[in-house]
Amino acid sequence: MQHPQLGRYPAARHIIAHVSDTHLLHGGAPLGGVADTVAALAQVSEQLERLGESLDAIVVTGDVADLGEPDAYRLARAALEPLAERRGARLVWVMGNHDERAAFRTELLGEPGGDWPVHRIIEVDGLRIIALDSTVPGYHHGELDDAALDWLAAALDEPAPQGTVIALHHAPIATPLALMDVIELRGQDRFADVVRGRDVRLILGGHLHYATNGSFAGIPVSVAGATAYTMDLTRSPRTLVGVDGGRSFSLVHFSPDDVVTSVVPVGRYAPVTTLDEDYLAELESLPPAERLERFSRKRERE
Ligand SMILES: [Fe+2]
Ligand SMILES: [Fe+2]
Repeated sequence: MQHPQLGRYPAARHIIAHVSDTHLLHGGAPLGGVADTVAALAQVSEQLERLGESLDAIVVTGDVADLGEPDAYRLARAALEPLAERRGARLVWVMGNHDERAAFRTELLGEPGGDWPVHRIIEVDGLRIIALDSTVPGYHHGELDDAALDWLAAALDEPAPQGTVIALHHAPIATPLALMDVIELRGQDRFADVVRGRDVRLILGGHLHYATNGSFAGIPVSVAGATAYTMDLTRSPRTLVGVDGGRSFSLVHFSPDDVVTSVVPVGRYAPVTTLDEDYLAELESLPPAERLERFSRKRERE
């Protein structure tokens, strides 16, 4: 059913849920003996369920498994795949430095194992999502070498009808955390040359374990906070303190002219105010001026 447009901006044409750094362990063991990563991901799934049919894709930007164990990938798949199938959303898995390509391939993608880079292109109703493998086997830093960038450049030669989103684990963005600089993405200058001036509307990343955003080569960059544990940015930037809280994921809303990313805290919270769908339907049925009187006009508290 077509709803009237109530404000300046049209409704989103595509909605992506951006989840990152689930760091699952075999058997669902707590990470660091503390963090219940399975419960956290189940909570994310419960929250995404409420989005209903509007969800087009779930993009998981790496470090799906903490140690690359096959069972950890099975847990990740069990947590998100039924939801994606019910909602008709594409599930896009992106390699992170904690992942192992062979197990990632067999358990998440249902493909024969292999240790070559896991680059993929997924098109969702005209919007192209490029999952780019920025990992270096045996290391935690990231790198986009000539082979990866040649592949990306060739893919971008053909624009997509609704533009492109690049999802990679090692986000090309500055961080205040000194130690994260050591394990940053290498090859960024050429990466910038490859994406600049193409149809890339947004770059999605993870790895930092806190929600942040910036830009790269003139393209917005959005980093999803982790679901496993998060970095405490109030500690000295010369330390790295991961804490059992502050989890979040992001939602990305695409309309033909705009991209907006929003951070969603992971958790169950008590409602403070609620206006239900019947109330919105009532507003939609009114002429615009009357909507202001009904919803915008300040009233004396009764
Ligand atoms: Fe991570
Ligand atoms: Fe990482």
